[in-house]
Amino acid sequence: MNLQNKTFIKGVICNFVLVTQLIFVSQAYSAGTVGKIDNVDFSFEGVFGTYDKKQLQRGLQVFTEVCAGCHGLTHVAYRNLGDKGGPELPPEQVKAYAAQFDIYDPDIDDDRSAVPSDYFSGSMVENAPNLSLMAKARVGGAEYIVSLLKSYTEEEKEQAGSVLYGNKLYPGGWIAMSQPLWGDDVEYMDGTEATLQQEAEDVAAFLMWAAEPKLNVRKETGFRAVLLLLLLSVLLYFTNKKLWAPHKYKKV
Ligand code: HEC
Repeated sequence: MNLQNKTFIKGVICNFVLVTQLIFVSQAYSAGTVGKIDNVDFSFEGVFGTYDKKQLQRGLQVFTEVCAGCHGLTHVAYRNLGDKGGPELPPEQVKAYAAQFDIYDPDIDDDRSAVPSDYFSGSMVENAPNLSLMAKARVGGAEYIVSLLKSYTEEEKEQAGSVLYGNKLYPGGWIAMSQPLWGDDVEYMDGTEATLQQEAEDVAAFLMWAAEPKLNVRKETGFRAVLLLLLLSVLLYFTNKKLWAPHKYKKV
């Protein structure tokens, strides 16, 4: 092998090592914990991580039965519940899910039952934020949500006419949301035991999906792009070799 080929191969190897390191280092940062945020091994973490459809379905159940009493989720349409890479409810279940809700339709100036193309409703309680993008809005993401739900101290105090609840994670130590999860708040349809930890993880995963529904697709595309680049490097190596072959060992 001549010098040129050696340098080229070295270049390819260096680039490859650099790219893989960049991928893993950025992953390590995004999965890092901040403050007292618990580390949770979510299925969607890491380079190849994807959402767990069953977990998203359980999270949807917790959201519907507990959180939706106060919080909106207006960026998500009911039909998204059937999307690939999401909870993947079959079409008839998506229809049935939407049909439980009544929404106001300006076209008929009246309420009607929702259909899959309608969106989840807004917040029912004035100061309860919309949760559509919450999992991406807070440092720690889904892990922040799990920890927040588990950090209640069961203390209460009144301030300026409203009740605040002690929460060790929330900035300032007091939050206007009463403790929503205690364990056994829902009866999971898939038979999973509804511990506080389980419910918190499931609803956090669901909210992560709501904030970033295309994560599975994005990772698949990224993986394919890396493969393609590798293939390209190999092809380039051989093209280079062939191109220079006639000039090899030529006496100058
Ligand atoms: C009784 C009404 C109520 C219920 C039920 C409820 N929340 Fe809240 N939530 C609130 C209110 C009010 C706030 C605003 C708190 C504040 O600003 O101090 C809030 C804030 C939040 C926040 C934002 C915290 C932050 O960092 O700003 C998250 C995340 C959240 N809720 C998640 C949930 C989840 C998940 C559920 C279901 C398991 C849930 N909530 C159930 C009323 C509720």
